[in-house]
Amino acid sequence: MPLFYQQNINEHTRLAIWEIREAEPFFTEAVTVQRTISHPHKRLQHLAGRYLLSYLFPDFPSWLIRIADTRKPFLEGQPYQFSISHSENYAAALVSKTCQVGVDIELASPKIALIRRKFLSDGDAAALGLDASDTTMNELDLTIAWSAKEAVYKWWGLGEVDFKKDIRFDTRISNGQTGYLDCTFNKPAPQPLKVYYHLFSSLVLAWVMEP
Ligand SMILES: CC(C)(COP(=O)(O)OP(=O)(O)OC[C@H]1O[C@@H](n2cnc3c(N)ncnc32)[C@H](O)[C@@H]1OP(=O)(O)O)[C@@H](O)C(=O)NCCC(=O)NCCS
Repeated sequence: MPLFYQQNINEHTRLAIWEIREAEPFFTEAVTVQRTISHPHKRLQHLAGRYLLSYLFPDFPSWLIRIADTRKPFLEGQPYQFSISHSENYAAALVSKTCQVGVDIELASPKIALIRRKFLSDGDAAALGLDASDTTMNELDLTIAWSAKEAVYKWWGLGEVDFKKDIRFDTRISNGQTGYLDCTFNKPAPQPLKVYYHLFSSLVLAWVMEP
């Protein structure tokens, strides 16, 4: 059973990563695909994300999940808020009974450097301790930054976020493989947000949990 990582953040909030090694029937015994996904690996990722929700909280009613116009999945009239992400053979889920949550998982790749100007301001780079004029920025640092902004986007859930203008990094506290970014999120008015991250070699996990 390839549970890759689990963190029970507190009594009400749980986070996990699943390494997908099973074939589809393993997941479809427990959960169903809620929309047409023709690509087999994308379907497997989707199933693994749904599977993790009820792995974390066995009474999680995954069959009641609805999809908003923004494509954010949600539950109505239920005690759970949740967020899902996948990358390659990994799926991550964050579930909470008390907080609004967002999670993102990404395998670092050199391709991230190609889009860095689209999501990272010079101020963000400075907050991360990076030299903004350096075109060879470390792909792991860039992936942390990207993943952190994706987690904020999912936490917000209402779409229409300009990654450069609406999410600003203020400081980064790094403790080896883990750390957090203090951010300012500008929608609808500036508010502080903490984005936590955890590195597993080149796999980056980032999450937000705020009321
Ligand atoms: C929605 C988005 C965050 C998904 O990210 P991704 O890296 O493609 O995929 P991930 O595997 O991390 O996440 C997919 C999951 O996110 C969730 N999701 C989709 N849309 C969402 C939304 N609007 N809010 C919250 N969660 C959402 C779903 O659970 C989905 O998985 P599922 O369909 O299996 O349930 C991404 O496509 C996106 O739109 N990002 C913002 C784009 C943007 O504005 N970029 C500008 C910066 S340059």
